[in-house]
Amino acid sequence: MTDAQSFYGRWARVYDWVANAPGVASWRDRGADSLALAPGDTVVEMGCGTGANVPVLRERVGPTGRIVGIDVTRAMLDRARERPARTGETVHYVQADAARPPVRAADAVLATFVAGIFEDPASAVDAWCDSVGPGGRVALLNFQRSPSALAAPLNLAFEGFVRLSAPGTRLSRQSHVSAFERRVRAARERLTERTVARRYETMAGGFVGLLSGTVA
Ligand SMILES: C[S@@+](CC[C@H](N)C(=O)[O-])C[C@H]1O[C@@H](n2cnc3c(N)ncnc32)[C@H](O)[C@@H]1O
Repeated sequence: MTDAQSFYGRWARVYDWVANAPGVASWRDRGADSLALAPGDTVVEMGCGTGANVPVLRERVGPTGRIVGIDVTRAMLDRARERPARTGETVHYVQADAARPPVRAADAVLATFVAGIFEDPASAVDAWCDSVGPGGRVALLNFQRSPSALAAPLNLAFEGFVRLSAPGTRLSRQSHVSAFERRVRAARERLTERTVARRYETMAGGFVGLLSGTVA
């Protein structure tokens, strides 16, 4: 079992509460917007967690669209599967490693707060681009340090977000943050190499970055 699986296995219920906090919904909306989805599309969410993006994705793909959620942690998927009872959303959930997704021919891929977890984020992004093929869109939403001078004290809070979104117990605090930043950078660089018509935007005073592009 990986660090991420044991962490999210223990904290699925708490994570679900944080993931659905009111402020986070607007970031999810913009992530879904960046995929330029149309009714009937198939969208795959890598590391879907407790399914917090499902409502914004369903709004865009409509009742005929297909949403596939891939996550490696059973407890997160169990929590996600409880959602339809509350909201009537139908989603195909698959327990699998999103670095090697067992899905092809999607129209778009969304990965929110996951790129910083993978050992080899560039090859995960390659697999995601391959799963949509030319013309498909891929979006990465991640926490980051804010470049704004005014935000300097709040950058400490960023470390807390890193702990929550990319758990790991074997590294010191500073190395953990550096590893997280290196992974997010590697994922963004690979997405930049693989795509055209890219959009980059920041939210929450620069603490959240969203990069999306169309696979070339
Ligand atoms: C910070 S949560 C993000 C969940 C969701 N994307 C969201 O925005 O709320 C990270 C998720 O990635 C999952 N995860 C970690 N490594 C993974 C892997 N190799 N393959 C699939 N899912 C993975 C964890 O189980 C967890 O549910």
